[in-house]
Amino acid sequence: MAETNENRSSLPVDEYISHHRGNYEAFHKMSLEKPDEFWNEHANIIDWYSKWDKVLDDSNPPFFRWFTNGKLNVTYNALDRHLKSHRRNKAAFIWVGESGKEKIVTYHGLLKRVNAFAKALQDAGLKKGDKIAIYMPMIIEATVAMLGAARIGVAFTLVFSGFGANALADRITDCGAKIVVTADGANRGGKLIDLKKIVDEAVELASTVEEVIVVRNTENKVEMVEGRDYWYHEITADQNVFVEPERMDSNDALFILYTSGTTGKPKGVVHGNGGYSVWVANTLKWAFNPQEDDRWWCAADIGWVTGHSYIVFAPLLLGLTSVIYEGAINYPEPDRMWDIIERYGVNLLYTSPTAIRMLMRYGDLYPAKHDLDSLRVLGTVGEPINPAAWQWYFKTIGKSRCPIVDTYWQTETGGFIISPATQLGVGSLKPGSATFPMPGIDPVILDEAGKELGDNTKGFIAIKRPWPGLMLGLNNDPERYKSVYFSKFPGKYYNGDYAMRDSDGYYWLLGRADEVIKVSGHRIGTIEIEDALVSMKEVAESAVFGKPDAVKGEAVVAFVITKEGVTADKALIEKLKKGIRETMGPILVPDEIHFVKAVPKTRSGKIMRRVVKAVYTGQIPGDVSTLENEASVAEIQEAINILRKQSEK
Ligand code: WT7
Repeated sequence: MAETNENRSSLPVDEYISHHRGNYEAFHKMSLEKPDEFWNEHANIIDWYSKWDKVLDDSNPPFFRWFTNGKLNVTYNALDRHLKSHRRNKAAFIWVGESGKEKIVTYHGLLKRVNAFAKALQDAGLKKGDKIAIYMPMIIEATVAMLGAARIGVAFTLVFSGFGANALADRITDCGAKIVVTADGANRGGKLIDLKKIVDEAVELASTVEEVIVVRNTENKVEMVEGRDYWYHEITADQNVFVEPERMDSNDALFILYTSGTTGKPKGVVHGNGGYSVWVANTLKWAFNPQEDDRWWCAADIGWVTGHSYIVFAPLLLGLTSVIYEGAINYPEPDRMWDIIERYGVNLLYTSPTAIRMLMRYGDLYPAKHDLDSLRVLGTVGEPINPAAWQWYFKTIGKSRCPIVDTYWQTETGGFIISPATQLGVGSLKPGSATFPMPGIDPVILDEAGKELGDNTKGFIAIKRPWPGLMLGLNNDPERYKSVYFSKFPGKYYNGDYAMRDSDGYYWLLGRADEVIKVSGHRIGTIEIEDALVSMKEVAESAVFGKPDAVKGEAVVAFVITKEGVTADKALIEKLKKGIRETMGPILVPDEIHFVKAVPKTRSGKIMRRVVKAVYTGQIPGDVSTLENEASVAEIQEAINILRKQSEK
């Protein structure tokens, strides 16, 4: 990549959009000084069956509970209430398939589908507190499954369709899902992915599943297991049922979403009904300022939190029209994205730096073929955006008139936590900075010892107090919730990022501080890949790290030590890649696998991934003392020597 994290902030700011600072400052100040007043007002962005006793119950930290005893149903807010207004026949979703097929579903039509699916779940014996897993492509039925579950108080876990059978089975087992909803296949990049086959394998490994529901999405022929598998269109054939929305407590679980951390086992992040809904609806409004007739396109996958919060929940709560696209954004041609914007008159576009970098590589002729004048705000998410990509997005796509809303957040935060707030007035943008905290967010930059750092100094970013979108906890693991997020800096939320605040108060996110990497915006624990490698019979040990990549941000490199007697050759590399693809899925497959005789470790046995990476990418010599917290300089020097000797051979 042209820029490194370190020089990002010192680049000249030659392009910016000047907005009035507007209400932002006063608004943010009030959110922190009078939180009760602030949230009593802003929680009314949704309708409640009955109001809360307390805005925030912080009597049992870090298990913070918002809007205690408040009762609501998310699907009532996302669907039923819009039917009483002019939104009844408004498009909720405009779905576009890779082949160019399109489907428009109105709010009324979506409610019918959701009711029919909720009824099918009830018929299968599911009730409040049960769990289902959803393993689906980007189709309307995936949103129906999420909402149908939420209507009757069943929590869902949606597993990204780029994960393999073992990864799916682990998630099903961890949350105890009774039903898996899937499709006969998915279309991606002109290829057909046989999702049902992967579900069959996963269900063999997971013992909790009683039923599999299959949506017909492709021409793919699938095997249906008698008594276990049901066609979606058959069990939802009656589209004229009404299912009473369950009155959910604000702090009942809405969904569980698994995400990577610094140990092998993914964490089941649990989000609730009340605080989460209030957070996603308000943040979308503050950041993007959507208007009634806008067309919003969040081009993420619903398998990630971005899709949960900003394809499904926030836009529906606000009664917006969203575009959903199933397929690759450069297929069949590199102008696919620009074509969809022109065709549907998209006003607000939300995508990722990796997508922008990929599309930028095809050159300016592709966007030039299309009328992009409908665009008003451009968003990005997933990793820091390098200024070159920011400038291209701003000038070539937005014609220098659309603000770039760089939203910083995490699966755990529910919605944006640092982002320009175009509705409130952001002042000038700086390319590569996510600008200022959202209302209710109180960030600090800390050193290793937890001491607050001043401006222009890189440190760890932590949040000083809870906000409504913060997860309820980790599924079945309160201890891990405490230790992962609230122990490094007691009393503060910390989740692994470096950042800096400049003298104008702008926040610059500077990448992960832990063993998590971002590959095309996908969050991957390097240890997950190491575990997958070591579970194969040829592998004794491995060290995985991310190397800089101009398009993907980072690419996965694995150093592997084979077991005695195993021939370490090209065929083995292919075999290991295939093994990971099948068990964990394509997103975890390393780009490079290198065989080595040793990987350096600290005295306490921790693999020094940062040292391996520094040697591999030629960043050594440099200041080695910052490379690895647990190791001495002498140990690091020895590690470097080991690696150098191996590469000389
Ligand atoms: C990690 C969270 C949030 C939805 C998608 C990813 C990185 C995310 C930004 C941004 C710099 C960013 C952080 C964060 N990240 N957005 N705008 N600027 N870094 O969610 O998979 O939970 O990943 O993504 O490192 O911790 P996620």
